[in-house]
Amino acid sequence: MKAITQHRYGSYEVLHHEEVPRPAPGPGQVLLRVAAAGVDPGQWHLMAGLPLAARLAFGPSRPRAVVRGRDVAGTVVETGPGVTGLTEGDEVFGVADGSFAEYAVAKAGLLVQRPANVPATVAAATPTSGYTALRAVAKAALTPGQRALVIGAGGGIGTMLVQILAARGVSVTGACSASKAALVRSLGAATVIDYRVTPLGTGYDAVFDLAGLRGLPSLRKLLTPRGTLVLIGGEDSGRWLGGATTRSLRANLVNLFTTQRLRPVLALENRADLAELAALLEAGTLTPRVERTFPLAGTAEALRRLMEGQAQGKYVITP
Ligand SMILES: NC(=O)c1ccc[n+]([C@@H]2O[C@H](COP(=O)([O-])OP(=O)(O)OC[C@H]3O[C@@H](n4cnc5c(N)ncnc54)[C@H](OP(=O)(O)O)[C@@H]3O)[C@@H](O)[C@H]2O)c1
Repeated sequence: MKAITQHRYGSYEVLHHEEVPRPAPGPGQVLLRVAAAGVDPGQWHLMAGLPLAARLAFGPSRPRAVVRGRDVAGTVVETGPGVTGLTEGDEVFGVADGSFAEYAVAKAGLLVQRPANVPATVAAATPTSGYTALRAVAKAALTPGQRALVIGAGGGIGTMLVQILAARGVSVTGACSASKAALVRSLGAATVIDYRVTPLGTGYDAVFDLAGLRGLPSLRKLLTPRGTLVLIGGEDSGRWLGGATTRSLRANLVNLFTTQRLRPVLALENRADLAELAALLEAGTLTPRVERTFPLAGTAEALRRLMEGQAQGKYVITP
């Protein structure tokens, strides 16, 4: 089968479109024929092996798993020993290591049935960004009528956060570059700010930071005295630990001395969130925006464009 592989860490040129053996499902796993695979910044981190601390998990000198990709939608074509609840022919979505390929093996427990009214491309765009958005929303515990600011509202997680918050009656301000303003408004943001030219405002009950470029003091000034700062991401240059990690550690310390609540998010994939996302997709409460699909051979280009901030919502690979 064709797959996007990587044999060493580095820039986009380490990704290869090549022939590899089709994987076989082990106990508790299923083999999927991949219909679509979502792209997110986590795949860039695996490609680059950054931050360096992450190599403890990825593989110290080269990635242990050769095929890239994680978010997936596809058809079950084979079940491994001990799998219950999934059978051949089921249309599913969730996470599968190595989803940038024609076939991928997934843990049965990290897949859910794809609702019939949701296209595979949209389902594949959902898992990582979606469960991160769900965890972030849970941290802020906002009530209808409260005000939230989403910094990075036009990206993968931001576009889902805006929809989920707006559906709960929260008044959302989305901060994004001008090219993404129409998209963010269409998702339910009451106000859209071009962060490059307009101040972000003040008095928010919650601020969700996906950009990671502002320090904790300036983010806290955007909040009410009892507001919640939800720290989700950022791609700054923390080479060893990652800027987002060191900022989360600082936030946990600052928490001890303020009435504001500083809440780092570490979203871990789990079936309960996938099931909730499936229900939101089926109801139309959440409709991830897939700006563009790329063929398997275009994966490196998709990842490069994503990391340059060009994606309006999500990119998806269709093998
Ligand atoms: N905490 C967790 O568990 C978790 C899980 C998954 C991902 N993440 C991290 O969360 C971050 C966002 O992920 P994503 O999938 O949404 O990425 P994405 O699709 O690349 O979107 C990031 C967005 O941030 C915007 N942005 C960049 N600089 C900005 C600034 N200074 N001010 C406001 N917006 C800015 C970008 O576009 P514009 O500048 O054009 O608006 C882009 O739309 C990444 O760092 C990712 O690694 C964290």
